[in-house]
Amino acid sequence: MNIVVGITGGIAAYKAVGVVRGFVLAGHTVQVIATEHALRFVGKPTLEAISRNTVHTDLYEGVSEVRHVAIGQAADLIVIAPTTANTLAKLAAGIADDLLGNTVLATKAPILLAPAMHTEMWMNAATVANVALLRERGFRFIGPASGQLTGSDSGPGRMAEPDEIVAEGLRMLGGGAAPAGHPLGGQPQVEQGSEHPLPASDAAPVARDLEGVNILISAGGTREPLDPVRFIGNRSSGKQGVALADAAVSRGARVVFVGAHLEVEAPRGAEIHSVETAEELRVEMIALAPEADLIIMAAAVADYRPRAVAEAKIKKEQVGDTLTLELVKNADILAELATDAGAHQTIVGFAAETAATSDELLALGRAKIARKGCDFLVINRVGWHEGFTTDGNEVVVVDKTGHIVIEVAGTKVSVAHSILSAVV
Ligand code: CTP
Repeated sequence: MNIVVGITGGIAAYKAVGVVRGFVLAGHTVQVIATEHALRFVGKPTLEAISRNTVHTDLYEGVSEVRHVAIGQAADLIVIAPTTANTLAKLAAGIADDLLGNTVLATKAPILLAPAMHTEMWMNAATVANVALLRERGFRFIGPASGQLTGSDSGPGRMAEPDEIVAEGLRMLGGGAAPAGHPLGGQPQVEQGSEHPLPASDAAPVARDLEGVNILISAGGTREPLDPVRFIGNRSSGKQGVALADAAVSRGARVVFVGAHLEVEAPRGAEIHSVETAEELRVEMIALAPEADLIIMAAAVADYRPRAVAEAKIKKEQVGDTLTLELVKNADILAELATDAGAHQTIVGFAAETAATSDELLALGRAKIARKGCDFLVINRVGWHEGFTTDGNEVVVVDKTGHIVIEVAGTKVSVAHSILSAVV
């Protein structure tokens, strides 16, 4: 496929190299259009080497081949990363004073924008209106994430990571995620055997719709010690929970995050608490719950713990050929939070199931939400090769009555946004 990567003039332009590289490695032809300002942040030779193509900048180059419309006409996907506040404004107004502006106006391809700017600029009323208008016209957004910005400040405005942008772009090419109402009527292309059979979720955060909302999220996997060096644990990486926290922060929520043994970086912009065991998680969640409007239990909690924890390392010579462990049941934190929930609180649980069919998965999920008493349950299939440590996820969300609220597939980040939107 023919992918155009537009790069505009922000510090995050250096990260665009990773976006170009990702699409090239995925086997696509990449044409880079860099604005003059972008080339102050990233070198043309680097982009040409990585894209394996000439980098286009000048509107008046290649006039004989009508390049200002040809690139857009030939594109299957346009990704602009980073998209500055200035570019958002120009795109919203349909301004075509450079090659990128012309290309966007001349295309029927789906367009993915990865904004990057300071928090104040992202939240400025003009930018908010431009984003809303572009979204209405079918432009798709990824990010911005919340985190450390160029100066000493931090907040929403950081460009989404290159691999997330590439994953979202590839998903748009693969069908389901292309904008429904593209300005020139571009239609999503659906490839047979696409990796995600369910409707793709919307990676675009709804602008600041969680401002003033307090969200408490647990993630990761608890560990129950056997002795000072061993534990009983599980394979949860914490990725989906971290993605939920990142998504909630980027939408303006105040997020308190309780992590157990994360394999990924903790979410930025959230208040972080760390725990080891199920009991520690329970104590922390119960203490933090009263402040929360929304509680999401994404952590994989050990159902049982050893009855006794050995003070010293358990030695083979003393145990012999068979070691029998006696385990006692841990409290069900989600059920407890649901029982104690105030009228203003919404409680979301997760269900990891090894079901053989979708029907069985749904039946297990429906039985689980009835047992737990939470408001929503996010059900996902797990197995030896599914669900854990991967960047993608496929979930069904049911409500208290067992009705399906959404079924989505995509990156854990885009699934996180869909879950939040469903709950909102
Ligand atoms: N959970 C919890 N406390 C526990 C066990 C699970 O709060 N002791 C929460 C998890 O965080 C998740 C939900 O309950 O949100 C479902 O977890 P899951 O492991 O799928 O279900 P279990 O209740 O453990 O039931 P089972 O293992 O029998 O399927």
